[in-house]
Amino acid sequence: MKLAFFDAKPYDIPSFEKYAGAAGMEIRFFDTRLTADTAELAKGCEAVCVFVNDEVNAEVIDRLYGFGVKIIALRSAGYNNVDLRRAFGRIHVVHVPAYSPYSVAEHAMALLLTSVRRIHKAYNRTREFNFSLNGLTGFDLHGKTVGVVGTGKIGRIFIDICRGFGMRVIAYDKFPAKDAGIEYLPLAELFAQSDIISLHCPLTEETRHMIGRDAIGQMKKGVILVNTSRGALIDAEALLEGIKARQVGAACLDVYEEEADVFFQDISGHILNDDVLARLISMPNVIVTSHQAFLTEDALNNIAETTVRNILSCFENDGICENELCYRCGNVEQCRKERKERCF
Ligand code: NAI
Repeated sequence: MKLAFFDAKPYDIPSFEKYAGAAGMEIRFFDTRLTADTAELAKGCEAVCVFVNDEVNAEVIDRLYGFGVKIIALRSAGYNNVDLRRAFGRIHVVHVPAYSPYSVAEHAMALLLTSVRRIHKAYNRTREFNFSLNGLTGFDLHGKTVGVVGTGKIGRIFIDICRGFGMRVIAYDKFPAKDAGIEYLPLAELFAQSDIISLHCPLTEETRHMIGRDAIGQMKKGVILVNTSRGALIDAEALLEGIKARQVGAACLDVYEEEADVFFQDISGHILNDDVLARLISMPNVIVTSHQAFLTEDALNNIAETTVRNILSCFENDGICENELCYRCGNVEQCRKERKERCF
């Protein structure tokens, strides 16, 4: 079994070598992203392993299928970069639905605390022996209202963390959990009441730019936005306008709409072509991390272990893979997996 591993980074390799090696898989690591131009690298491999910024569109799927690839294994939870309809009936798609929701929820709180207590500024100051406190005044999280959009695995852990801080939690979810003890409100109401808004829902056609000019206009002046979910949930230009107008008090971004061209790479010696990102980063009240929320040792080990298990179960004895994805998955009428069959 040969696996073509795209967008490989040094921190991916040890855990995958450990779990794939033990399963007798041969891995070809490529540091390039998967695109229509690089798909050819998968020739001779039965499976490809991809991450969030690899392009798994119709053209790429056609090419992979032509090369005999049978499985696309996402080493992520989100799968908005995969054309599931095109893959259906041709290439099995599997993902890692949960590897450490704690890693992401804790990172969201780390960003929030850094922002409200100005840790990023203090760190730089004290390194230069500037011990002044001027401009570092923060505020207590205790007693503030946090609006959580998306109350799945990560959102709920974030809610628990916020409750530990004595915050009032309100939430919006398209599919509210029953008996979860969560105060759900309509989205507009959440926007109006929240001091802090944290996004934990998936990126879909419906949620793309859910935070745009209109939404920002409905929020409290000085609202803090935290996004550890997917960049395109926020219209970055509208965010920039909101920050310049002092409507948005701070933004904590682990993800960015156009991150595919820059995140995960060291481009410190180059000119950044993305003016919106450059302007956002220049703001004193914006903190950007480059899609780092998942990056803990615990998560990396879980990702590698589950990905290898997913691939094996797809191959073994026509086995059903519980983490297989298709555009019918979850659809009560059409979902074969719910009937304990393979997706196709
Ligand atoms: P999950 O599937 O457990 O929860 C997602 C929640 O969003 C569900 O409760 C669902 O009902 C809700 N939802 C679906 N459509 C919605 C809509 N239109 N409006 C509001 N809520 C909606 O997913 P999980 O594991 O909590 O992950 C959430 C997101 O976090 C993922 O979709 C992914 O994009 C992102 N993520 C980011 C990582 C990072 O490193 N920054 C790592 C892992 C996930």
